[in-house]
Amino acid sequence: MSNNPPAQDCLIVIFGASGDLTKRKLIPALYYLWDHGLAPANFAVLGVSRSEYSDASFRDMLHEFDPQAYDDAKWADFARHLHYHAADSTQDQPWPSIRDRITALADEHKTSNNYLFYLSVAPQHFEPIIQNIGVSGLVTEGRLFCSIGDDRPWQRIVVEKPFGTDPKSAVHLNNVLGEVFDESAIYRIDHYLGKELVQNLMVVRFANSIFEPIWSQHFIDHVQITASETVGVEGRGSYYDSPGGGAMRDMVQSHLLQVLAVMAMEPPVSLSDVDVRTEKIKVFKALRVPTFDQVPHIAVRGQYGPGQIDGKAVPGYRMEKGVNRQSQTDTYAAQQFLVDTWRWGGVPFYLRSGKAMTRKMTQIVLFFKPTPHVLFREQAKRLKSNQIVINIHPNEGIRLRFEGKVPGTGLKIKDVVMEFDYRQQWQVEPPDGYATLLLDAMRGDQTLFKHRDEIEAAWYAVQPVLDYWQENPADDLPNYAAGTWGPSASDVMMAKAGRYWHND
Ligand code: BG6
Repeated sequence: MSNNPPAQDCLIVIFGASGDLTKRKLIPALYYLWDHGLAPANFAVLGVSRSEYSDASFRDMLHEFDPQAYDDAKWADFARHLHYHAADSTQDQPWPSIRDRITALADEHKTSNNYLFYLSVAPQHFEPIIQNIGVSGLVTEGRLFCSIGDDRPWQRIVVEKPFGTDPKSAVHLNNVLGEVFDESAIYRIDHYLGKELVQNLMVVRFANSIFEPIWSQHFIDHVQITASETVGVEGRGSYYDSPGGGAMRDMVQSHLLQVLAVMAMEPPVSLSDVDVRTEKIKVFKALRVPTFDQVPHIAVRGQYGPGQIDGKAVPGYRMEKGVNRQSQTDTYAAQQFLVDTWRWGGVPFYLRSGKAMTRKMTQIVLFFKPTPHVLFREQAKRLKSNQIVINIHPNEGIRLRFEGKVPGTGLKIKDVVMEFDYRQQWQVEPPDGYATLLLDAMRGDQTLFKHRDEIEAAWYAVQPVLDYWQENPADDLPNYAAGTWGPSASDVMMAKAGRYWHND
């Protein structure tokens, strides 16, 4: 984030390249970068998967997925950079041939020995592939410090989520990675950090003097971070319903705690990736780990039953393909977090996420404390708290809500809104997070990637809740209808604290 160095020449080796992510996100992102002159001068992609494709049929498959996304003439040029090698990279035997293909392409495309390995495979395949990369001898510099401006060849690895299913498995995976790559070469990706408004949050906070003084327990009553989705599990039933699935693991532990960290961190001493991540790590270390007894008071799980979304009937979660008919999986999770620092002491952060809810909304809301003295006694009951609403998606932008006088004689007070609308202001669509993140990985900038300490601390903060849920199956699931704002227990949790969820 600190400056905009160019992407460095490299060969991107995508493991699991026949999967959804490559055609849906990675190739469109790379094409965007190439089309905008942001790709390195010399680059190539090698897709590795078990499915049988040639270079040509791999290119066709990628193009056919969404032909509208590409200009035909440009695609022909771009596609020359795309290659494919059919092999099971979790096994040892094919590795000599994978290795030969990698080095041959590096020669052909003049990418020197810079490799960006990308793990886009199911999590059980992470470990054997990382080990095989290690054994291949391709990582010559991975254990050395690879920083921006360093001309030595580099080898980096991008790892998709899920990153473990609990603290123990996350620590194990970090250790496996650490055997082959230095921490400075490990890019644990979280596409929420690539979202424009999450990055803008840092600019809003640290490029302005009006927000920082009020950004603390002195003025803020509590914070809400919501990621509601209208979609269900979209054919991922068997993964989502496995012991590693559910909304708490899939969304809260990963994406939403990252948003919390950016929202809550102290100003870094510089914009270098090391300095920004140092501040984020401090937030994670300050997350209070709840006790088992506290869980029923600070967390709510939910699961959707049949309902309606946008006028269409939606079956309940337990009817989805691959889902156990008695499933206990949380398709909705809410948890209150505390950040034990001087800045945030006593300010609850409420995080919630759910599938099959009434609307797609990713948002941060800061609720401010009431005025120290209530002057407008008669109207006081109706006074709303001041709010800063940061819409991450959709309608990217920031709203400031405060009280104003309704015009006319007499004194009527009503809340009014000042709004910064991203699209209206800039007249452009924000780029997809993957373009930003892929570019940063090719630049060697880790600002928007997760450090091992962040991941491990995030697991510790949610694990008591997961354990409690595991040990105490709920007898009321499903407890919200598809197309609603989630289980009523979640509203009750807020009401007991004298608060309510912000749903607009
Ligand atoms: C993914 C989760 O990481 O994020 C999905 O695995 C979820 O379950 C998705 O649907 C949501 O991302 P976004 O960008 O649409 O909010």
